[in-house]
Amino acid sequence: MNIGIIGSGTMGSGIAQVAATSGYKVKLFDTNQAALDKARVALEKILARLVEKGRIVTSEKDRIQANISYVETLKDLSDSNLTIEAIVENLEIKKNLFSELESYVSDACIIASNTSSLSIASIASSLQKPERCIGIHFFNPAPLMKLVEVVPAIQTSQEVLETSVKIIKDWKKTVAVAKDTPGFIVNRVARPFYGEALRIYEEGIASFETIDSAMKNIGGFRMGPFELMDFIGNDVNYTVTETVFTAFYFDPRYKPAFTQKRFAEAGYLGRKSGKGYYDYDKNGHLIQRDSVIQPENEEPLKQLIFNRILVMLINEAADALFLNIASAEDIDNAMTKGVNYPKGLLAWADEKGMDWCVSKMDELYNEYHEDRYRCSPLLRKMNNENKTFF
Ligand code: NAI
Repeated sequence: MNIGIIGSGTMGSGIAQVAATSGYKVKLFDTNQAALDKARVALEKILARLVEKGRIVTSEKDRIQANISYVETLKDLSDSNLTIEAIVENLEIKKNLFSELESYVSDACIIASNTSSLSIASIASSLQKPERCIGIHFFNPAPLMKLVEVVPAIQTSQEVLETSVKIIKDWKKTVAVAKDTPGFIVNRVARPFYGEALRIYEEGIASFETIDSAMKNIGGFRMGPFELMDFIGNDVNYTVTETVFTAFYFDPRYKPAFTQKRFAEAGYLGRKSGKGYYDYDKNGHLIQRDSVIQPENEEPLKQLIFNRILVMLINEAADALFLNIASAEDIDNAMTKGVNYPKGLLAWADEKGMDWCVSKMDELYNEYHEDRYRCSPLLRKMNNENKTFF
């Protein structure tokens, strides 16, 4: 099976490595020769390191490299069975590319996009045969992250969906099938992890450090929200939030925070700029602050913070299920495999109990009277019927 990948940047080169490692023949195309060269050199380095660590043998490295060819025209992808586009996030540019690509490939070729934020239906509309179009959304870095969201558009045929899922599973990835809605699963359900943390900070309830510590020490998250926003980049994370907020017709649940906007505007982007919510040295390592004087016993406060962020995440996951964005299994897999949450949010809801979830949401709503804190109808219904997700 031949795979064509368009765009040899961060994502395209990672996806090429994944497919080539599973024995598929890959052609990687980019309009920028320097980007192609960079991808080739980067892959050489990554594979050499894997050999050094004893993770693969030299013959394996050679085999993976031989599976990838670097091509200079779109027409070179004409013998592809599946193409995955990972170019700049711009609808018009993607549509023009798709329509040109369709004139070169066979009728049976699946044409996929790795877009994070554009609707698959709008991209598919540029094709003569829109039923062959689908979203195949990898996470960064593609070779390491287990999850791939597969997103059929309303035009996508069942056969294209099934074949795509089969191929991605063959690449040893966990597939979550998601409805073509803003943020798909992960970028939608994860919003409160950042948004509620920022809100708690803005209300003056706790510092970045205390909020991060609550999520790590009580919740078992690998990184706290502020550490994670610094890692992702405040510019990138803010843009995702704003895009999701706009796409959801300004639903207050996704409202971006001024704190993060100002950090992005000031150039306090996080690790990559040396300063964000924390300070970093030139290798991106955290510079420990002089110890800030903390109140004697912060445990009750941390418990409160953790409960508030967790219940907002659970509420978002339950609402995604309520609106048929994905199955309960796929929603939980998406969060554990796509963003390394310690537990699936719906399984966490079962553990905490539906009455706990509903009463925590109602407490927040009664305190603030904001639509942001409305409890998902599904949580309420399940509580009334004494049901669990699993
Ligand atoms: P990037 O900027 O690293 O790479 C994009 C590449 O596409 C560049 O090498 C550029 O020269 C090339 N390109 C631009 N226009 C082209 C065209 N018309 N034909 C061929 N090549 C062209 O971007 P990145 O981060 O790899 O993102 C690519 C896509 O993947 C975007 O749609 C993005 O939303 C999506 N995505 C990005 C993730 C991330 O964390 N970076 C995660 C998941 C999806």
